[in-house]
Amino acid sequence: MTDLLKTLLANHIEASLTVQGYHWCIEGPDFNQYHDFFSEVYGQYAGQVDRLAEYIRIVSHSTEYVIATVDVVKANKTIKPETLVGNKPIEMTNAIIVMNDIILSDFNKLFKLASSKLEQGLENYCADQIDALNKLNWKMRAITK
Ligand SMILES: [Fe+2]
Repeated sequence: MTDLLKTLLANHIEASLTVQGYHWCIEGPDFNQYHDFFSEVYGQYAGQVDRLAEYIRIVSHSTEYVIATVDVVKANKTIKPETLVGNKPIEMTNAIIVMNDIILSDFNKLFKLASSKLEQGLENYCADQIDALNKLNWKMRAITK
């Protein structure tokens, strides 16, 4: 469970910073709409960093330490975002969908693992995140139609 939590922690940091970059670079007539939407998205990812780090400590009964330096995040992340240079909102949204699917898949694995280990708190947390990420997925797929 802690390995999966470490991957999720690194992927949330990666996704958050990537989407914040989109928030800064968006251009065009729909600037306000996307600037605000990307802000909501990177806030959603950034908002889970603390919870994920704390769960590493909780489920390992404090035997695992949490290191979130750039080098450790780089070693633990499984998201490899395309480097989008430019300002295209649909391309940016499609790139977020790819990252979101990876995070969602890891939360689904962690949910099953937490359930099998009777870690109900973590199981509930995963269920809430799966719900929130599915909602985000729905919004993004609607945007890109
Ligand atoms: Fe901003």
